[in-house]
Amino acid sequence: MAAPAVPRSVLLIVSGSIAAFKVPELIRLLKADGIQVRCVLTQGGSQFVTPLTLQALSGQPVHTDLFSLTTEQEMGHIALSRSADLLLVCPASANLLARMAGGLADDLASTVLLATDTPVMVAPGMNVRMWDHPATQANIKTLKERGVTFLGPVSGEMACGEYGPGRMVEPADVLDAVLGFFRQQVRQTGPLAGKACLVTAGPTHEPLDPVRYLANRSSGKQGYALAEALADLGAEVTLISGPTGLRPPAGVTVSFSETACEMQDLTLDTARSKAFDLAICTAAVADWRPAYVQDQKIKKKVGKDDVPPPLALLPNPDILAELSAPSSFRPQLVVGFAAETETVEAHARAKLARKGCDWIVANHVGAGSGVMGGSENQVILMTQDTAEHWPRLSKEDVARRLAITLADWFSKRHKSL
Ligand code: C5P
Repeated sequence: MAAPAVPRSVLLIVSGSIAAFKVPELIRLLKADGIQVRCVLTQGGSQFVTPLTLQALSGQPVHTDLFSLTTEQEMGHIALSRSADLLLVCPASANLLARMAGGLADDLASTVLLATDTPVMVAPGMNVRMWDHPATQANIKTLKERGVTFLGPVSGEMACGEYGPGRMVEPADVLDAVLGFFRQQVRQTGPLAGKACLVTAGPTHEPLDPVRYLANRSSGKQGYALAEALADLGAEVTLISGPTGLRPPAGVTVSFSETACEMQDLTLDTARSKAFDLAICTAAVADWRPAYVQDQKIKKKVGKDDVPPPLALLPNPDILAELSAPSSFRPQLVVGFAAETETVEAHARAKLARKGCDWIVANHVGAGSGVMGGSENQVILMTQDTAEHWPRLSKEDVARRLAITLADWFSKRHKSL
């Protein structure tokens, strides 16, 4: 699918800490998100991870020596320091932090860090006493004052057997920080820069008693992917999520709700709190909720008295319809989703009219489609007078394609105003 609006590249500087064992996984995660990675490995770092591993995973030559003819021929150390959008020191040893703070340039890593004006992010990893040492703390203060961003460390059990602060954050947390950084940058320049988007996602849980609830098979994956894709194009995204097991997307404001009524309150309060340009309701909101919620667990009876309790239901509010209705806070464009198991296009067209939204994304969720809870989706994008059948794609690709279509719509609308 189309690349993000802005190329994103990271110069990953790996120094000598046992936490370097987490770096291969980090490179894999960064690359999977389409971020270019080039590595600089210090001598200490090479005791924990080999250049070959970093090269194989990053797909780029690994730079180790300041006075290397190979590095200088391929890309001089000054050019290297400016070759990326972000310098990420991970793990950052106490020694490299000290050399950064002191302005030393006695190896390739420290020289690159001194020669750059690119933003620098560091993820320290070291023994708790090294972290706590006044010298390290003074270096950290200096570096923070100079604008270096620190990720962690966290407290935990360390490779040396001690416990406390100094443990490097996990690769997934580093990835989130990097994605958050790029999403912040693209907010100035991306095709959706300046656009505020509200997205609902996931299922709702409708309680019967403190331990039981009615729910559906929605995983929230499509809505979360959409929130990320919009943020990658520069939008300021607010995600209202039902209960999912998903990691909140980096650089996106997320609020959680459990029931449809809670999601309604949260969504409408959010929509009223500031002007949204776009709302996309992907949430699989339960249509009904139990009419009575018992305070205590409903008990089974014994023998012939074990008659299942009756299930009386009440209709839930329709959040999409409420957002779509004319009001002072209606977003410029409101997009619904329609999950159908049969006659998808006809049902979705009727829903578009009934709900009053502008576009609807219809998808087939019938038995065997694998869409609900799965990783792929096949959709029809329907506007008031068009229906575009998309091929089966990953949910991430559906999200990216929809985000690009939305960016085009806003740009054409802007031009015609
Ligand atoms: O009515 P149905 O559930 O098929 O409509 C689907 C669309 O309406 C989705 O966009 C969904 O997020 C939204 N919806 C809603 N509130 C409801 C039911 C559905 O916002 N109570």
